[in-house]
Amino acid sequence: MALDYSQKVMDHFINPRNVGEIENADGIGEAGNPKCGDIMKIYLKVNPETNIIEDVKFKTFGCASAIASSSMATEMIKGRTVEEAWNLTNRAVAEALDGLPPIKMHCSVLAEEAIHEALNDYRAKHGMDVIPVEHHED
Ligand code: FES
Repeated sequence: MALDYSQKVMDHFINPRNVGEIENADGIGEAGNPKCGDIMKIYLKVNPETNIIEDVKFKTFGCASAIASSSMATEMIKGRTVEEAWNLTNRAVAEALDGLPPIKMHCSVLAEEAIHEALNDYRAKHGMDVIPVEHHED
């Protein structure tokens, strides 16, 4: 049975924003889902004066929902401070995509976790406290 994907999911899957990597990134994070084997990597360019994320790129080896979630999540944190970006939840990403099928919600969790790992990488390098990353299923 084909899953019912929103137009936005299809758009971000077919034309993903911010694909690639950043050379000399200020923060790099990776998250994987052991069940499906999908992996997402996030690269951040952060202005150290303002803590604003000036650029963000991703590489995702995963399903359509994971790619659409990475694309949307990177759009949502670009131009935000590292503190603001921390508050982005996978549910907010899924909502911005006009929803994900329930069995695909876990795919958006990869985006939240990879961003948290990348933010912590930046935080650690800049003398800020590293925040524990919470793992959840959806
Ligand atoms: Fe693995 Fe979507 S099925 S992230």
